[in-house]
Amino acid sequence: MNDFDNDHHSVLQRLATFPRCRLAHVPTPLEAMERLSTRLDGVALFVKRDDCTGLGFGGNKIRQLEYYLGQALKVKADTVLITGAVQSNFVRATAAAARRCGMECHIQLEERVPNVDELHRSSGNVLLNRILGATLHSYPSGEDEEGADAKLKEIGEELRQDGSVPYIIPLGAAHDPLGALGYIDAAAELLTQLDQRSLRMDHLIVSSGSGATHAGLLFGLRALGSPIGVIGVCPRRDAESQAQRIAGHIEKLSNMLDLKSDITSDDIRVTDVSLAPGYGQLNDATMEALTLTAECEGLFLDPVYTAKAMAGLLHLARQREISGNVLFWHTGGQPALFGYGDALTGHQ
Ligand SMILES: Cc1ncc(COP(=O)(O)O)c(C=O)c1O
Repeated sequence: MNDFDNDHHSVLQRLATFPRCRLAHVPTPLEAMERLSTRLDGVALFVKRDDCTGLGFGGNKIRQLEYYLGQALKVKADTVLITGAVQSNFVRATAAAARRCGMECHIQLEERVPNVDELHRSSGNVLLNRILGATLHSYPSGEDEEGADAKLKEIGEELRQDGSVPYIIPLGAAHDPLGALGYIDAAAELLTQLDQRSLRMDHLIVSSGSGATHAGLLFGLRALGSPIGVIGVCPRRDAESQAQRIAGHIEKLSNMLDLKSDITSDDIRVTDVSLAPGYGQLNDATMEALTLTAECEGLFLDPVYTAKAMAGLLHLARQREISGNVLFWHTGGQPALFGYGDALTGHQ
């Protein structure tokens, strides 16, 4: 296995051996957040607009899906299957990508958020899934990744027996994080943009859920020789569990690309400061982040991932744990705002 050699060409050459289906509008804009920066001492804030990746309301999952759909097309699949929370952006983006590639999509929606209202079950991403003509299934638990994957496999088997060629996008951390490859591309894209503008970033803050975005960015930046500190804000599980998950993804990426990584546990930084009371549930810091970003920048965050990531960023900046040039990686998710409409107005 080769060491990280800081050679753009060889990292990207290895990536190019994976089948890929171009779906995203890239490069996404890199913008200064001048008004929000004035609210934070010692921080110049920038935003990487991966909410603008284009297909099906965009978001980070479009870059990830380029590799999943690439593989699905290679095996001549005609149906894509995926599991996620009721207001999951990944499942909505997958349904859009499947349609774009001429495929059917089966979506399994898990009960991951307690006490949700009617709007949560009918609007936002759920509405978009229906408009895309996806077939919806439900799964009673939201904390059983293996069970959800097993059920998806069962649905896939039934489809196969009926003559379809299913392709499953798995949820559990034991699988290769194929989607993370899209964020190695994104790391290269960022470094090019920074270079072109003679800009330097000290920290990068990103929402860390399945961990594919976080792991791909960290792996990609280090493989390309960049020391930018990457901090994942976890909206899903405690920081220690998430750091272990990221370490697992890094090891798998290293094997997938046959590149020995020099990333250590010190390099894997996660905070869960904005997680409580749990996945997909609002808190005051999340509401403040969501409204402050809208009022200062005219920029919408989503209630489940990016507002929690921004809440984490605000906390770290106010504690002086981060300073200098700070990049907020906007991973999209805004359609969920509508599924959370009543919850958001109720929380103000
Ligand atoms: C809007 C948004 N941001 C961030 C994430 C987390 O990305 P990842 O699963 O790659 O950690 C998700 C995951 O679904 C998402 O929908």
